[in-house]
Amino acid sequence: MSIMKQVKLTNFVSVEGLTNDEVMALITRAEAFKQGKAHLELATDVYAANLFFENSTRTKSSFQMAESKLGMKQIVFDPQSSSVKKGETLYDTLLTLNAVGVDLAVIRHPQNEYYQELLNLPANSHLNIGVVNAGDGSGQHPSQCLLDLMTIYEHFGHFQGLKVAIIGDLTNSRVARSNMEMLTQLGAEVYFSGPKYWFTEEFEHYGQYLPVDDLVDQMDVVMLLRVQHERHQDDANEAQFDAAQYHAQYGINQARYDRLQDNAIIMHPGPINRGVELASNLVEAPKSMFFQQMQNGVFARMAMIEAVLRGRKLGGLN
Ligand code: CP
Repeated sequence: MSIMKQVKLTNFVSVEGLTNDEVMALITRAEAFKQGKAHLELATDVYAANLFFENSTRTKSSFQMAESKLGMKQIVFDPQSSSVKKGETLYDTLLTLNAVGVDLAVIRHPQNEYYQELLNLPANSHLNIGVVNAGDGSGQHPSQCLLDLMTIYEHFGHFQGLKVAIIGDLTNSRVARSNMEMLTQLGAEVYFSGPKYWFTEEFEHYGQYLPVDDLVDQMDVVMLLRVQHERHQDDANEAQFDAAQYHAQYGINQARYDRLQDNAIIMHPGPINRGVELASNLVEAPKSMFFQQMQNGVFARMAMIEAVLRGRKLGGLN
């Protein structure tokens, strides 16, 4: 039996820079948490605050659940009722939470790479808090990536040679960015589809664009992305957007579902626009993995947080 090295990080803000061995160690650890074969005993209290400056259901609740299962204590933070509303900066908010005893901050923020100022600190900074990125603008979504990889690995047992289509609102998707990088690094072949105007130059490096109907019967994984209308203020195509037309052209309907390979799966980070990315009656279909993704999110996030607890020697871990 091979012994996997324990991943240790002082912060977990991106999947960029993770080696394949580290990804596999995190997936293995997440699976051990899921199977009840791993358990953390914290020797001292560790306090987490979850700072969500953008809406969330899955990521926020599963980070809360992950922290609870790891035996951590949570400090409630609500941006709407906090001094952020008085103009307090993110850095000063974290200085404050850190000063009252918070060890780890899980942060979702609309600004890409908001975390840079929290990691690249001046020499005289008092800030000493672990940062876990729960999604930054259209940048990275490392915990979604890890839970997606875990779900794919559970189903196929490997990544090498798998064909994965990422379909939809690519431009605005931090899920697409995290996943295309790691899937490619792990040996999968990535393809893209959806409205062509969302397939910009940065995606060409990772895979080719093909029409949905050319992809569905060739893919092992069909990964659908939500159309993120809330990020389309500057999208010239938003005024012409038609949900029924999108569904007909790019969505997974019954006819396309029936063309999927026997062992193929459909994934979606959620929330799903029913009848747009996916026909409503297919949300709970056998090839739809959304509930497994959500369940795996708890265990993938436990593995991520554990890596930071060990990286910072919190709770007596090392
Ligand atoms: N997948 C995802 O990030 O969902 P939430 O926005 O509900 O957290």
